[in-house]
Amino acid sequence: MSSVYINGKFKPLAEASINVLDRGFTFGDGVYEVIPVFNRKIFRFDEHLQRLDNSLKAIYMDNPLSKNEWSDIFNQLIDNFEDKDQSIYLQITRGVSERDHDISLADKPTIFAMSRPIVKKDLSSGIKAITSEDIRWQYCDIKAITLLPSVLLRHRAKEQGAKEAILIRNGYVTEGAASNVFMVEGNTVYTPPKNRHVLPGITRDLVVEILKRNDINIIEKTIELEQLLKADEIWITSSTWEIVPVVELDGRSVGEGNTGLMWEKANDFYQEYKRSM
Ligand SMILES: Cc1ncc(COP(=O)(O)O)c(C=O)c1O
Repeated sequence: MSSVYINGKFKPLAEASINVLDRGFTFGDGVYEVIPVFNRKIFRFDEHLQRLDNSLKAIYMDNPLSKNEWSDIFNQLIDNFEDKDQSIYLQITRGVSERDHDISLADKPTIFAMSRPIVKKDLSSGIKAITSEDIRWQYCDIKAITLLPSVLLRHRAKEQGAKEAILIRNGYVTEGAASNVFMVEGNTVYTPPKNRHVLPGITRDLVVEILKRNDINIIEKTIELEQLLKADEIWITSSTWEIVPVVELDGRSVGEGNTGLMWEKANDFYQEYKRSM
């Protein structure tokens, strides 16, 4: 059985346990990261660790481990599997305390990490999505483990035969329940700017970088719902899904109703970048 990392030790998953008074369990008081591994190499390690530091800082915590310590842990977890492509999940909570909101009561953080092979679903022919009100809190730039709104949003999407909910706050697109959003209008690609209502997706940033490098017009600006509904193409991005075209939104075809040429280009650039790493 593959092992996972819990508070300084590697243990079989079935033996890894935490105290029921862990604040992650009682308050959802913690943050997480999902880091892809392609060809057995940790993808965008520095960027993920920087986002982890930002999330921790925002909840008044320090990173309990150094970069080298994280790297050693990740590499040991990756060695559990022969699979070339894996996904590392790590979670840090404020630790154990009596059930009281006061954060000073927790003595040390709980640290958990595991890796799993990426079970690749072929989403290259596109997915269906719905639009939904963004019912989440005001600090969506923190990768917080408190994911109940996103769980409900994904469930609503599934109930309507869709794979993702694209979230709308005050008439503007923020992101997906677990992804960032891009849209294409003519020869220009748009994605909402990073702010408190958008998680700074590592894939999002990389796609922006790659498109710029390949002289594709990419503009980071607010997208109104009306504009999204008229888009020629819509894509969503995330570490494990990469770049996925949305071919149907709220039951209506996006553009021609199939994967667009701009998506094909972006995806080719992205796959080329992965191979070059
Ligand atoms: C709300 C949200 N936005 C965006 C993303 C995409 O981020 P990344 O590209 O770093 O996986 C995720 C990933 O899980 C997410 O949960």
